Amino acid sequence: MDEERLVSPKPRPEDIEASFRPQVLDDFIGQRQACENLSVFIKAARARGEALDHVLLHGPPGLGKTTLAQIVSRELGVGFRGTSGPMIAKAGDLAAILTNLEPHDVLFIDEIHRLNPAIEEVLYPAMEDFQLDLIIGEGPAARSVRIDLQPFTLVGATTRSGLLTTPLRDRFGIPVRLNFYQPEELEAIVRRGARVLDVPITEDGAREIACRSRGTPRVAGRLLRRVRDFATVAKRLPVDAFVADAALQRLEVDKRGLDAMDRRYMQCIAEHYAGGPVGVDTIAAALSEQRDTLEEVIEPFLIQQGMLQRTPRGRVLSVTGFTHLGLPPPRRLLNGGDGGQFDLLRGAGRSEEGDE
Ligand SMILES: Nc1ncnc2c1ncn2[C@@H]1O[C@H](COP(=O)(O)OP(=O)(O)O)[C@@H](O)[C@H]1O
Ligand SMILES: [Mg+2]
Repeated sequence: MDEERLVSPKPRPEDIEASFRPQVLDDFIGQRQACENLSVFIKAARARGEALDHVLLHGPPGLGKTTLAQIVSRELGVGFRGTSGPMIAKAGDLAAILTNLEPHDVLFIDEIHRLNPAIEEVLYPAMEDFQLDLIIGEGPAARSVRIDLQPFTLVGATTRSGLLTTPLRDRFGIPVRLNFYQPEELEAIVRRGARVLDVPITEDGAREIACRSRGTPRVAGRLLRRVRDFATVAKRLPVDAFVADAALQRLEVDKRGLDAMDRRYMQCIAEHYAGGPVGVDTIAAALSEQRDTLEEVIEPFLIQQGMLQRTPRGRVLSVTGFTHLGLPPPRRLLNGGDGGQFDLLRGAGRSEEGDE
């Protein structure tokens, strides 16, 4: 279901990301602090002639983790090898990758929280001492061998850093958190995208698309391409705010970037559970959606927009959330402040779900 949404932050087949990706840190828009820090660490590693310390990139999908990993290798002037947690099935797969790295190369492991625990164990000495301990053979004939590796930089990416084991997380010297982008940053990303795609666009056209991109560059790129299609067919180029608004309305992306799925989620809480608190598993069942999809894709943006709160007793729709749906907020929300306070007043002690 989520893959079909125009505003899904996860990759869709038509996302032509290669040409869209900024290639160097200076072209990477936003995430200023993260980029400045990375730039210092990269320069220092280059000056010392050492591999960069391991980097953990975490944040919601579509914010630029893969892009940054590639930029890091380019700025270091080293090779890039990419794989993902679920793709590494056996310790031998990881060993093959690690022994083939050139000195100081970047190994990128996407979705590192989905790495199999047995393989994580192999990764620890590799990250710490650039050594690989492997068991060769079986039964009484089994023996362990130690292989020296070239120094390398592991760049891990995860949407769920809470799912990472502590020993793994502790082995990353440089943790980098990516946040949702500000509207001005997204506007710059839309303008850059329009240049890459050769789409004429006005300033207010870029702003209109940016405001509706859920703080996510991947969504900005996708909305830009769809708006371009409308504008081309309607012979209304350059793309201005009017065309962008008309196109996005037809695509059911509202003024704040919420789509039908977001509204269905919020309506469920508002109408069936009186605004909450309600457990995420209950919502998932009511909507026939995966809990993971709700937690990784739908909720982070609604929380960031102040429409939703995660409390120990479940999800609560805020006054802003009700207002956005055009529904009157329940009296208790107006009187008792936010949903969190409401929970405290009720003395909620029971933790219904394991939120991060
Ligand atoms: N800071 C940025 N500036 C410009 N484009 C960006 C930026 N961050 C991400 N993008 C674009 O957004 C898309 C998604 O980025 P990606 O790195 O694949 O995200 P993630 O790996 O976090 O899911 C890519 O097309 C990328 O070029
Ligand atoms: Mg990625």
